[in-house]
Parts: sequence; structure tokens; C-alpha cells
Amino acid sequence: MKTPVEVIESKKRGEVLEEREMRNFFAGYMKGEVADYQMSAWLMAACLKGLEPSEILTLTKCTVESGRCRPHENYDGKPVVDKHSTGGVGDKPTIVLLPLVACMGVLVPTLAGRGLGHTGGTVDKLESIPGLFQQFTWEEARKFLRENGAIFMTQTEEVAKLDKRLYALRDVTGTVDSVGLITASILGKKLTETLDGLTLDVKYGSGAFMRTFEDAERLALSLFRTATSFGVRTEVLLTDMNEPLGEWAGNAVEVMEAVRMLRGEKVEERFYNVTMSLAESMCRLAFPEEKKRDFRPELEKLLLNGEAYGRFLKIISSQGAEKLALENLDEILSPAPNLTEYKASESGFIREVDTFGVGQFLIRLGAGRRVLTDRIDHKPGLRFRKKLGGKVEKGETIMEVYSSQPLDASEIPELFLIGEEPEDTGSYVRHLKIS
Ligand code: URA
Repeated sequence: MKTPVEVIESKKRGEVLEEREMRNFFAGYMKGEVADYQMSAWLMAACLKGLEPSEILTLTKCTVESGRCRPHENYDGKPVVDKHSTGGVGDKPTIVLLPLVACMGVLVPTLAGRGLGHTGGTVDKLESIPGLFQQFTWEEARKFLRENGAIFMTQTEEVAKLDKRLYALRDVTGTVDSVGLITASILGKKLTETLDGLTLDVKYGSGAFMRTFEDAERLALSLFRTATSFGVRTEVLLTDMNEPLGEWAGNAVEVMEAVRMLRGEKVEERFYNVTMSLAESMCRLAFPEEKKRDFRPELEKLLLNGEAYGRFLKIISSQGAEKLALENLDEILSPAPNLTEYKASESGFIREVDTFGVGQFLIRLGAGRRVLTDRIDHKPGLRFRKKLGGKVEKGETIMEVYSSQPLDASEIPELFLIGEEPEDTGSYVRHLKIS
């Protein structure tokens, strides 16, 4: 068996490691026999030389097996399906999808994340609701799944322990942006849910980790190959993150926007369509034999007849949301009180949005973290009055900023590029083509 140094040397030369060599190396790391500095060297070699599909699969298996998984149980034969997004700004479909897809008779045991870098996280957003608890063991989750069909959960100490340690190292050694490492990290956590189906929402664009469509496609293919190797039915949607998703970005304000969709109210078109495409995908994976079934009208009905919203209230109230909060949800989820407007400096069309910059600005407003220990202010939010491709007149409001502290308009960064011609924004939801 190779020593840790030999494993590192081997990856440095771009060789493909065998499963037993990798297993031994990662088990050694978890036991303290491989040091953090050795693992950092290996991660850098993996970043620079890349990982082959067989190595990505092994690393994913090691990650899944490093903690506890949801026990395989039969809940009256219901399919278990989840979705995962690679992250963006204004990315709130999960909040709608859980209750909505659960109403279709699907079990959705979502392990969601916190904000990462400039992107927001579902766990942080939902903490805008006082009392809501999201940290459960798989044993505790069982009751919620049985009663509500869905649970909003955060990763606990017992899940994917290897990823927790590797992610912390990657974060400080410049080794985050590797398709192989990202694949193993995402799936190493998601697959602990013991799933029948998984819909992956891989984002591309100025607010995504993958800036170009081509890079997103490479990640999408890697995720697809690895998840299907585990026997999980998988679909990948590639969705545009060249502007924040929806009308609002922040924490409480995003939950409010999701609540509006759940209540059957009209919401911004892209947010609605991306969410519905993801919901349809989850249903296709849940009921693979029903090839001709058109899920869209059924899903729309659940939004319009109040069932999806009723399920959302049931889920959050059994997860501890305070009664007073449930009765005053609109008030609880309202934005911070100080409004500052960002106005167009010229007439034209919105040609570009610096979505990464939008995420950074939200962090400055307190809505995200600079360091892991930062406390989030749930109230600040941004409202986009104009979207990509939209026409603006000089002096018209493009974005409203709701901050907890008073803000001067000069403190708002330049986030929009205005041009003379309208931008062809093209399709914003694409299915991964498997050749
Ligand atoms: N999200 C994860 O969970 N892991 C990564 O490596 C990147 C994004």
C-alpha cells in the first residue's frame, strides 16, 4: 500500500489512484495519521491535475461513508427525491419546492446549506422565521417525513464528516474550484439522504461559482455521472445566474417571495419558471413509469388552491416556528426599514448585472458572512425593479436597497451596465445533454 507521501506524489504526476489507495489515504486522514498539510498538498495536486471519474466516485463514497446516512425505510412506498443547487444570489426555489413536491406524494428530506462566499443559503434564509429549528438527527427526521412529507434540515456533525474537514481546508488553501472536488463534496452530503431521485440545478453566470456555461456543463456532467453510479435517478438543469433569481435578494425578503409563490400570487417570471421546471423534474424522477403524465398543471393547481402553502405552514410550525410568527408572517418577513434607491444614470437597456457584486453588497449590508462566526442580519434586502434586458429611463429606479442602518446612495456599488441595445437574454433553463 502506498504511503501518504506516495499518494501525493502519484497525484502530482497526474496518475489515477486506485480505490483502495484512496480509501486508505482518506481513512488515515480521519484517524489523524495523515496530516492537514499532507491533505492540503493532495488537494492542490487534485485541483491542478484533475480527478478521473473513478477517483471522483471513490472520494464521494468515502465522504458518504464518513458519517451517518438516512436509514432506508419504506414510507408507504413513497419515492424519496431531493434537489440541489450549486448556489447563487436570490436562489430560493428550495423553499417552494419542499412543500409543493411533498403535496405530490413525494418525500423530500432536504439537507440544505448556509451561505457560501457571495451566495445565500436556505438554512440562513429560513432562520428569519423565529423559532424555526433545522438541526435534526436522521432518527428525528423520520417523524417529520412521515407527518409532513418534507423536512428542512441542516448538516449536523454526524453527516459527511470527511467533507466538513476537507471543505474547511479547501476554503483556506485555494482548492475550492475543482470539478472533481466539488462533485464529491456536493454528492457526498446529498447522497446521505438515501434517495431514489435527485434533481441538480447547476448555475452558470456572473453570480455562480461556474462563470461560463461550458464550465457549468462540465460540473453538471460530473455530478450526473457520479450520482447515477450510486443508482440514483438523476436529472440536471443548467440555469442562468447572470442576474439574481427573482425580484428580491436577501434572507427574510426571499422567504417572503417564496411564500408569495406558495400562496399562488404572481411572482417574477424567471423565479416562477425555474422553480416549476425543478418541481417537474423532481416529479419525473419520483414517478419514472408515468412517462405521459404532465405534472405542470397539477403543480399549478397546488399553488392556486392553497394546498402547497398549507403544507409549508405545517412543516414550519412542526419544526418549531413560533405561533406569533406564523400569524404575522408578512410582518416578520418584511424588509429592513431604511430605503435607498439606485437610479439609472442614463436611458437604455440593462445589459449586464454584476451578480457576484450583488452578493458582496448583501454581505456588506449584514445579510451574509465575511467569516464563519459572523451573525447574519436577516432583514436587509434588495429589490430589483428592472431585470436583465429591461428598458430604463434616466433617473428611474433599478434597485431598492432596504438596510438596517441608514445608507447614502453613493455607498451603493455600480452593479448594472446600461447599453443602447436590448440584450438577448436567451433561454435560462436548459437540460443537460448526455451524449
Ligand atoms: N458546495 C459544496 O457543498 N461543496 C463545494 O465544494 C462547492 C459548493
